[in-house]
Amino acid sequence: MSTYTEDKRKVTTHRLLEMKQRGEKISMLTAYDYSMAKIIDEAGIDSILVGDSASNTMVGNATTLPMTLDQMIYHARSVVNGAKRALVVVDMPFGTCSGNPRQSLEAAIRIMQKTGADALKIEGGQEIREDVKKIINAGIPVMSHLGLMPQSINKYGTYTVRAKEEKEAQKLVDDCLLMEELGCFAITLEKIPATLASEITQKVKIPVIGIGAGSGVDGQVLVIHDMMGINKDFSPKFLRRYADLHAIMTVATQNYIRDVKESDFPNKSESY
Ligand code: KIV
Repeated sequence: MSTYTEDKRKVTTHRLLEMKQRGEKISMLTAYDYSMAKIIDEAGIDSILVGDSASNTMVGNATTLPMTLDQMIYHARSVVNGAKRALVVVDMPFGTCSGNPRQSLEAAIRIMQKTGADALKIEGGQEIREDVKKIINAGIPVMSHLGLMPQSINKYGTYTVRAKEEKEAQKLVDDCLLMEELGCFAITLEKIPATLASEITQKVKIPVIGIGAGSGVDGQVLVIHDMMGINKDFSPKFLRRYADLHAIMTVATQNYIRDVKESDFPNKSESY
């Protein structure tokens, strides 16, 4: 356990709120499977996001749009099996929460019942206010996702920084205040100017988790394949790589190939 996580109690939405109140930063990473979730949970991560970025990292798709509800459920169940302490948040995939509150609630309930996850993350602002309201009223904790919303990539046409213009920045602030009012337990802000993210963080009482949103927020989230250096094809400015697993795994694979080819593996002690 890292020195920051001697507290072994299960992380809850309430504990994230307490962390914001006492100024303790929140750490969050994505995971999509049991083994990865177990490693980062035991390392002391506060929260694990079963992101629909699984579409990119696990399947190799260009966008998050192809991810289905059943695929998210499969990944989320695997992560829940590996995470004992961290708060597990699951992305509602594209098309499952988009202006039809009854359908949205059905999808939300399905994820919660089939996976045992702790909460959901939903992309969108005031356009989906009724959906968010209905899900929260059913007792399901919701993390709002605003700023750059990858599920809307076809609407934006670009992954560049959002809310640089006054009008979009104002809508973002309004959406954050609305999501807080509706009862969201936290907000994720993706790829927006640091000053705006910091301003929003001070305006709302709930925790704000940033990705490409500077340091003035309450916590940070990164995609695990990017920060561990498994995926080398994606290098945005906001990314810090903490390992080079791509290189480690390449060398390990090459050593294995050599040992097999040279009949060095298995040796006597590795045989029955
Ligand atoms: O799907 C995901 O990994 C995300 C993060 C980028 C926040 O939503």
